[in-house]
Amino acid sequence: MSGQADLAGRNVLVTGGCSGLGLAMAQTFRRAGARVAVFDRTIPGGFAASHPDFLLIDGDVTDPASVRDGFGKAQSAFGRLDAVIANAGVSQNKPTLDLDFAEWRRVMSINLDGAFLTCHEAGRLMAASGGGSIILTASMYGVVAAPERLGYCVSKSGTVMMTKALAIEWAQLGIRVNAIAPGYVRTPFVEELVEQGRLDLAKLEKRTPMGRLITPEEVADAACFLISDSARAITGQIIGIDGGWTAYGYL
Ligand SMILES: NC(=O)c1ccc[n+]([C@@H]2O[C@H](COP(=O)([O-])OP(=O)(O)OC[C@H]3O[C@@H](n4cnc5c(N)ncnc54)[C@H](O)[C@@H]3O)[C@@H](O)[C@H]2O)c1
Repeated sequence: MSGQADLAGRNVLVTGGCSGLGLAMAQTFRRAGARVAVFDRTIPGGFAASHPDFLLIDGDVTDPASVRDGFGKAQSAFGRLDAVIANAGVSQNKPTLDLDFAEWRRVMSINLDGAFLTCHEAGRLMAASGGGSIILTASMYGVVAAPERLGYCVSKSGTVMMTKALAIEWAQLGIRVNAIAPGYVRTPFVEELVEQGRLDLAKLEKRTPMGRLITPEEVADAACFLISDSARAITGQIIGIDGGWTAYGYL
C-alpha cells in the first residue's frame, strides 16, 4: 500500500515522531504528499539536518501548556491540521509486585494523559476547522493481556476506549478517530527490552502466526490508509497490525 494513499495538500502532526513508529509514519505521510509536523520531547542531534522536510516541535505530551503551544505552532505554520497521530509512548516491563507508584504514574502520564491531551487539542482545532482524522497508537496489549506489563496494558486499553468514546462523540463534527494496535515492531523501544534480556526475539517470532515481527513501515502504511479519504467511513476502529498474534488461541 506504501505510496498509494494520496495525502497531497494534507497537514499532519505526529507525536513521538523522532523515533520508531512515529518517524516511520512521518516519513510515509511525507512521501504520500503531506506536510508533516513532528512533536517530540527528545529531538536527536542532527535530526533537523537529516529531516529538513519536517516542521520540528520540541514538546512534552504530558504537559498541557506544551501540547497547546506545539499545536499552535503547527497550526500557524500550516493553516490547519487535517490529521494528528497520538503516538508518543513508553514501555513498562516489570513484575507488578516490584512496580512502585512513581513507575505506574509515569506510564499512565505519558501513554494515557499524553494521548488525552493530544486528542483534546486536536479535537478542539478540528472542530473549529470542519473536521479531521485522529489516530491513537494503542498496542495489541491494549486488547490482550501480557504479564509484567500492568501499567502498559492498562494504559493502552485506556487508549482503546478513548478511541471509541471520542469517535462516537466527534463523528458529527467530521472528526474520525481510530487506533492502530501493533504487535512487536523492531524499534528502539523493543531493542531496549531485548538488550536488557527482557524480550526473546526468537520466541516472539515463533508465537506470531506470520512467523516474524512487524516492520515500522507496515504500521505506517496502515496509518496512511486510515488518515486518507479511502478510510472516510471508518471511525471508532482498533486496527490490529500484529501478524495474527491476537487472533491466535491455540497451544
Ligand atoms: N515497538 C513496538 O513493538 C510497539 C508495539 C505496539 C505499540 N507501540 C507503541 O508505539 C508508540 C511508539 O513506540 P516506538 O516503538 O516507536 O518507541 P520509540 O521509543 O522508538 O519512540 C517513542 C518516541 O516518543 C517520544 N516520547 C516519549 N515520551 C514523550 C513525551 N512525554 N512527549 C513527547 N514525546 C515523547 C520519544 O522521545 C520517542 O521519540 C508507543 O506508543 C508504543 O507504545 C510500539
